[in-house]
This record gives sequence, structure tokens and C-alpha cells, in this order.
Amino acid sequence: MKKIILLTGIIAMLLVISCNQSKEPNIVLLDSEWKFKTGNDLNWAAQGFDDSSWGTIDPKNTWENQGYKGYNGYAWYRCKTLIRSSLKDQSKITDSLQIFLGKIDDCDHVFLNGELIGENGRTIYEKLQPADDYIKQHGLWNTDRRYLLAQNDPRIHWDQENLIAVRCFDHDGPGGMFGKRFEISMTGLRDRLKFDFASSAFVYNPDTTVTKSFTVTNITGTERLKGELKIEATLSDNGISIYSNRSIIELSPHQKIETSATFRKNMAVPAALRVTFTDAATRNKVTEDVEVPYILTPESPSEPRINGAKIFGVRPWSPFHFKVAATGKPPLKYTAADLPEGLVLNPETGLITGSLKKKGEFVVKLTVENQLGYAERDLKIIVGDVISLTPPMGWNSWNCWGLSVSDKKVRQSADAMVSSGLINHGWSYINIDDGWEDTHDKNGNILPNYKFPNMPGLCNYVHSLGLKIGIYSSPGPKTCGGYEGSYGFEAKDAQNYASWGIDYLKYDWCSYGNIAPDPSLDQLKKPYKEMKHALRKANRDIHYSLCQYGMGDVWSWGAEVDGNSWRTTGDIEDTWESLSSIGFSQGPCSPWSAPGRWNDPDMLVVGMVGWGPALRNTRLTPGEQYTHLSLWSLLAAPLLIGCDLEKLDAFTLNLLTNDEVIAVNQDPLGKQAVLIRKCDDFEVWARDLEDGSVAVGLFNKTEKALYVPVEMIDMKLEGKHAMRDLWKQSDLGIVRDHFEMKVLPHGGRLVLLKPKFNQN
Ligand code: GLA
Repeated sequence: MKKIILLTGIIAMLLVISCNQSKEPNIVLLDSEWKFKTGNDLNWAAQGFDDSSWGTIDPKNTWENQGYKGYNGYAWYRCKTLIRSSLKDQSKITDSLQIFLGKIDDCDHVFLNGELIGENGRTIYEKLQPADDYIKQHGLWNTDRRYLLAQNDPRIHWDQENLIAVRCFDHDGPGGMFGKRFEISMTGLRDRLKFDFASSAFVYNPDTTVTKSFTVTNITGTERLKGELKIEATLSDNGISIYSNRSIIELSPHQKIETSATFRKNMAVPAALRVTFTDAATRNKVTEDVEVPYILTPESPSEPRINGAKIFGVRPWSPFHFKVAATGKPPLKYTAADLPEGLVLNPETGLITGSLKKKGEFVVKLTVENQLGYAERDLKIIVGDVISLTPPMGWNSWNCWGLSVSDKKVRQSADAMVSSGLINHGWSYINIDDGWEDTHDKNGNILPNYKFPNMPGLCNYVHSLGLKIGIYSSPGPKTCGGYEGSYGFEAKDAQNYASWGIDYLKYDWCSYGNIAPDPSLDQLKKPYKEMKHALRKANRDIHYSLCQYGMGDVWSWGAEVDGNSWRTTGDIEDTWESLSSIGFSQGPCSPWSAPGRWNDPDMLVVGMVGWGPALRNTRLTPGEQYTHLSLWSLLAAPLLIGCDLEKLDAFTLNLLTNDEVIAVNQDPLGKQAVLIRKCDDFEVWARDLEDGSVAVGLFNKTEKALYVPVEMIDMKLEGKHAMRDLWKQSDLGIVRDHFEMKVLPHGGRLVLLKPKFNQN
């Protein structure tokens, strides 16, 4: 009898363990069903609480994707799991237990067996009561949640059932737990040694070698680490080894060493670098793989070529400013035939200035000449109500400098836009984001803070380089960074911006949330209408960029408040999760995109970024960055580079100067791509272009190279089409009905299909 009771007890215990036990003995998986309930009650943290009436949820996907659409606020997750002591017995280094809870949108309190162990990714070591204001922090949605407990921490119940309860708070957007890594394990060598590949980019040397520098750090405070460091490079296509090097390294506690590898490689060929450290004492290994950037865009020819926008909108009487973007061996000489009266072209710089008095359309014949040749192209000028007839292209300070932006950094960025040659490919805006504002004076004029001593001087300087300049504010009293907003000063602010010479305003909702905490559609529109009127009175063409993260389906009414572009999502980050979840979810807003009315999935996260004074190389792989630029071009998205322009590496510059890819983004028809085929592993997007051709993007969402098939019937394309690889700028032959292309992990290919009317 006793035996039966015991057996039933064991079965019951196995049944209550709702989260998986892994096949790997040293990992407890937490990635299957959890219990879930919206609302908030601290009693739900208790181990003995009866959650049998709760719903179930997959922690790998946000709650909005699992039946809780539109829900913001508190919700709780609960999971019961056995933590066997064999976990620590089998592990070689056994001082701490780590609990990985993927990522959480936006904030969390984590309880183990009723006790608080973590807040927003920070382990709580001492006994503490959870504080509500702490949990409600912003901007933590893409942060890994890893909580670390000493193995003798009494909050862990070894060899018993443990209850993990997670209290989440979501401000807006998807909500709750998501991500990949949900598990319990002991800390290992990986947690003691850190490779940092992001402090610098790969350097392509003139002798066709490539150099990668990186650091290795012993992050323990007490132990010495000694072992072998192996660096290997292989070609991604066939696994052929192109470099291998072994050395012995020894690191004292907290010591960081810098090392590097230099090897010969064809720049255009994808390769991977693998770095392995093998600990001499335990033979445990830590391995990391890094993609070597591959350069696809061919160099611009020495003969002249005209790039950038083919159409330009201006309002009557507004100052006209258009720089003809052109490449070719300098000096270049510019001419413009049929330039309407009121405009002049500077033949040395290609800058067209002046103003036009009446509404109308003009076609100007541009030419650019150098010693080697001659290029010509039409520029259509439309004098009317709508400006920004192609998506704005430029730079914004936020993703690199964050709130540490200054006059000096802006001038340096403008200089670098010119010296790097980006200006010759159509890049034109230099936009100051948050962090420039001080306060309104007694006359209501907005004063810049000490970092911007002379705004009109700065605007003049940027204009003198042939570039345009943008600024940032909020309709609320404060910006997202806590600086002075425009609330109550809209008209005066717009006048000030115009008098300084500002060409672009990013207007960011932020603290307007306190004025309209639960906004109706009218309340969402109200502050944007107010600034619309103020800008229209300012007699200067100022691109009006709405930033309110897509609330109230802004794409369906952004044009009504005169927005030239509107953010469709929250802030982007330099991770695949962020890039892919934003980029691939832009389908629903596609019908609203039109010349002068652009959906904005946020800025580019390439090059050296950091959102503050300390910069690092983007965490996106080269393949992911090809996806980024290909997709943003198909989406007709504003292209705003968010990196330090003074530190552009060869790969990033190459990525940003492909005129055939940029031409897709700048296509005058202004139609946004639509999703034509989607499955778990890949997506195909297609964009109709003005000349009747179609740009097609093939995207691989997996971590392995795969062939992506395209059915031309999906785009209603019949007959033969000439296909061109836009990144490589090379013809791929004739296709009909169906084709497929190999796409690298998380990578994107962009091709152009041109109808071939001669069917023979
Ligand atoms: C918000 C915006 C960002 C940036 C910051 C500035 O988060 O979405 O793009 O402008 O504010 O504080």
C-alpha cells in the first residue's frame, strides 16, 4: 500500500512539472507551456497559490500574439519545475545557478518560490519588496533576462518542485515574455570568459587581407584562466579553411587582452571566423562564431553617374535646396537645362537653390561631366503642396550619440557625410535628435542648451556643405530624454526652427502621454494637427516626421495631419529580433505609402552605434545588414543612418552606397513593397517601380543558408523577365514563371525583374 501511495506521489509530482526537463542533464528547459493571467496580485507569487483556472501560454511568443491583442498593463506567468541537485553535481564549475527567461516587453519582477529574485534583468540578492515604479521602466524590452543565484541560496529548493512566477508590465506594443533562451543551468566557463568582437569593425587592408581585432576578458574576480585560444576562418559556401592559429593565453582576474587575426580573403566572398578558448584545467570550451563582412557593391565608375532622387517637391515661395548627387572622378561639372526661373545651379557643387512662385511641374535636364565622360538625367520638380516626394535619406544622431549629441558632433557628421562620399549617392539630411534643448525664454523662444551655442550658425554650416538639417521635439512638455518639449509653444517653436534654417522636424509623442493618458483617435491627432498648422505658417519646407510608434494606426491618418513620414513601430535596436520583428511586420501599412507620405520603421542600425558616448559596432551580422538595407529600400522607408559617420568601415560604406539599391528606395512611383510569400523560414517581398519593373527581396529567416523560391505568378508577372542582382549590380539572365536563389542565414537578396517584350 505504502508503495502504491509513493508511486502515485511520484506520478503526481511528474504531472505538476509543467515545464520540460531537457535531454541535456545540465539544463532544465523552461520553454514549454506556462500558466498565464492578466491583472496584478502579489499573492500570485506564492508557491501554494492555485493557478489551475489560469490559461496557458507559450513564453517564446508575446501575449499579443497569443490571444491578448491590444492588452497593455500587468500580467503574470507561472511555471513549476523540478531542480535536481545532479545539475550542480555534474557541472565542473558550480558556484551559481542561472535562470534565463528570454526577453520581456517591457518590465518584470521574478519570484522564485514566493521570494523576489530579480527586477528588469537585475538579480536581487537581498530580501526586498518589489517596487512598482521600478518595474515600470522603459526601453528594456530587448534586454536578455538572466537571473543568477548562489547555489546555496535558500530560495532554490534543490530536488523539489520550484515555482517561478513572473510579474510583467507592458507599456504598449506586443507585451510579456518572448525570445529563445528559457532554461535553468549552472554557470560555466562561458560565464567566466568574454569575447568582445564589437569594439571595432573588420578592416579590409589594401593588400586584400582582412584584419579582425577583438578582446578576451576574464570576468571572474578571483580565478586565473589559462588555456588555448584557437582562431579559424572558413569560407561559408564550402567550409574550406582559409586561416588557423593557436596560442596559449593566461588571464588574471578581470584581465582583458586584445588580439587579432589577419588573413587573405576575396572581399566579396562570405566567410566565418570561429574563436575557441579551451580551458587547460577542465578542458571545457567556449566557442563563438562571427560572420566576416563581404562586400557586394562594385566601386562607382570614374565616368560621371547621376544618382539619388529623380523627383523633387517644393512649396511655392519656400527656399529651394536640391543637391544633384553624382559620382565620378573629380572635378565634376554640372549643368541644368530648362531650369525654371527663380532657380540657379552652382556648376561646381551641383546645388540648386532659389525659390519658385507658382504651383506647376517642370522637367529639368541635368548633366554631369568630367574628363572621362558625360551623364544626363531628367529631374522632375513639382511645385505644390506635398514635399519629400521620395523618402528622406540622411543621418540622425540618436542611434549613435543618444543624448550626448553636440554642435561639434553634428558638424563632424556633416563633414563626414561629404568626405566619405555619401552625399554623392543622395544622402542629404543631418538630423539632431533629442538632447539639444534647454528651455523657453520669457518671450517663448526655445533656447538650445550649452552644447549648441549657435543654432543658426550650425544650420548655415550644414547648408553650406550642400546638406540639409533636422531637429527634434515633442508635443508634450518634455521629450523622451526629459528635455524641454513644445507643449504650449508650438507656433513659436516652428517659427524659431524656420528662422534658424531647419529642414526636418521629428515630433515625438513622449510626455504627451501624460496629457492624454488613454488617447482617443482625436486626441492622438490633436497635437500633430497643432504643429502642422504652425509649420505651414513658417514659410519653409520642413519635412514633418511623426514619431508616436504607430499608435491608432497612424499610417491611416498621418497624411491628414500633413505628416511626411510616421514611425510605425517602437524603437529599433541592433539585434535580429528587433530588425526582423519590425521589418517583416510592415505589410499592413503598405497601402498608405505614397510620395511625400512614408511609413517609417525607424532608423538604420549599421556601423558604430551605442545610443550614448560609448560606441560599438552594430550587433547585426553582415547578412542581417543586407536584409536591413534591402527591406528598408523595398518598404520605401526613410533611410536615416544611425552611426558615427567619422568611423565608417569599408563594409558599412559599401552597404550605404549601392546606387541601384538606393534607386529602389527612391523610386518616384512611391509604392511600398508587399509581402507575396511567407513561411516560417523565408519571406518574399515585391515592389512595383515606375518603369514597370519589379524589385523583389528574398529573405532567409533561419540560421542556415537556404534556397528561397519565387513564383512569378505571385506578382502577377507573366512571360520572360530579365533579372538583375542589385547588390552585385550584375545581370543574372532571363527568368520565367519560377526561380530560386540561395540566401545566407538571416540574409537578403534584392533583384530587379524587367519585362522582356521580345519573347524569342
Ligand atoms: C524616442 C524615439 C527615439 C528617440 C528618443 C529620444 O524613444 O522613438 O527615436 O528620438 O525618443 O529621446
